[in-house]
Amino acid sequence: MRRRPLIAIDGPSGVGKSTVAMALADKLGFRYINTGAMYRALGLAADEAGVDVTDNEALKRFCASVTLRFDTARNSLIINGRDFSADIKTQRAGSLASVSSANPSVRELLVSFQRSLGRDGGIVMEGRDIGTVVFPDAELKIFLDASHEVRALRRHLELKGNKDTRADVSAEIKERDRRDTERKESPLRMAEDAVRIDTSHLGINDVVEKAIDCARKAGLVD
Ligand code: DC
Repeated sequence: MRRRPLIAIDGPSGVGKSTVAMALADKLGFRYINTGAMYRALGLAADEAGVDVTDNEALKRFCASVTLRFDTARNSLIINGRDFSADIKTQRAGSLASVSSANPSVRELLVSFQRSLGRDGGIVMEGRDIGTVVFPDAELKIFLDASHEVRALRRHLELKGNKDTRADVSAEIKERDRRDTERKESPLRMAEDAVRIDTSHLGINDVVEKAIDCARKAGLVD
């Protein structure tokens, strides 16, 4: 039997991917999977195990030794029996993920895990390389984009209560964009057959509406 559809939501940091992906999953009755959370959890797990995430060989050994499991009820990746979801939203987790995700062993490990999760479809998966590498045959690919200034402001508001200033957040996003787009392994880019939505001047509800409209045009929603 043919698997259920897959929807890929890709784009840079602070563009509203999670909100849009969750709303689409809710609308379609699909599962929502956030792959950025997986790279963050893996970065934290490596760091906690004393692995220098800039050391390619050490990260390779770490990847070969870990056990991954997906907890469907919590919607989180469990690494060596531990759930890192309480700590994945920090700037530190973001930096560890951005650096370690350039490592080929990390990508190989997580991409094959993500493919196994998506085998039966019925999933909205968000990330950087879902439409280009993980599921190039996804039924619908949406690439969300926004100006650097808008994304930095959104991320700053999201991190309210955190001690980072707006300038810190802006510099961090700039550095993360550079690493995500310039890395050799699966750099962030839009799939040729993706629909691009510029969210710079749209409210989140408008973006969700546009995404649902894309799903309707793709024949995935009545
Ligand atoms: O979406 P996010 O900010 O939670 O992602 C954290 C980092 O993980 C990001 O800097 C790049 C990396 N990432 C990736 O390389 N591939 C993905 N599919 C998702 C995230």
